[in-house]
Amino acid sequence: MDILRVAVLASGRGSNFQAIYEEIDKGRIKATIALLATDNKDAPALQRAQGYGIETLYLNPGEFPSREAFDSAMASALKKRNIGLVVLAGYMRIVTPAMIRHFKNRILNIHPALLPSFPGLNGQAQALQYGVKIAGCTVHFVDEGMDTGPVICQAAVPAYDDDTEETLSARILKCEHRLYPQAVKLFAQGKLEVEGRTVRIKNQKKREEDTLYSFV
Ligand code: GRF
Repeated sequence: MDILRVAVLASGRGSNFQAIYEEIDKGRIKATIALLATDNKDAPALQRAQGYGIETLYLNPGEFPSREAFDSAMASALKKRNIGLVVLAGYMRIVTPAMIRHFKNRILNIHPALLPSFPGLNGQAQALQYGVKIAGCTVHFVDEGMDTGPVICQAAVPAYDDDTEETLSARILKCEHRLYPQAVKLFAQGKLEVEGRTVRIKNQKKREEDTLYSFV
């Protein structure tokens, strides 16, 4: 079987990109990151990719008449490179059908909240404002909605009453760096099956004793 070719789409820092890259680099995920694409020429993720010797692509949204036109160009660039999986990692654009129809159930996203709670921007701040005691992150397939696609996996962390957006975000980010590579690995192993809203994980390990209580 040909090795899975992954494209990472990132608009910013790129710490999730780094976490996935490192797992692939250590041989723990059978895949290769063939492209880092961005809509932001100043994204630190771009420099990171260059440092790793990964091909980069910057598409300037200002040069396209619509979101769909931008996404068509992105989809063509990805198809030209035989990309089998698209990983959104801090990608600050809504992906339109012009991309999704070419990569059905082949686009992943990570969101810093336990979906379906707190979709959209600043999930961590929304959770804090709501007063939740357990927060977390979600990896999901991308559909046409905003953070609405089928959930692949989630990780939970406690939220404390003296948390700030920064402290909670940092705690969640640590989880993201463990969770996202796991999801990419499951995909690369062909272990994910989508049935309606449900993602089935082949040979899933069950650990029913793992309960996270928010109190001490
Ligand atoms: C992460 O918090 C992720 O959940 C959200 O955007 C942030 C990206 O961080 N979608 P990084 O660019 O991967 O460091």
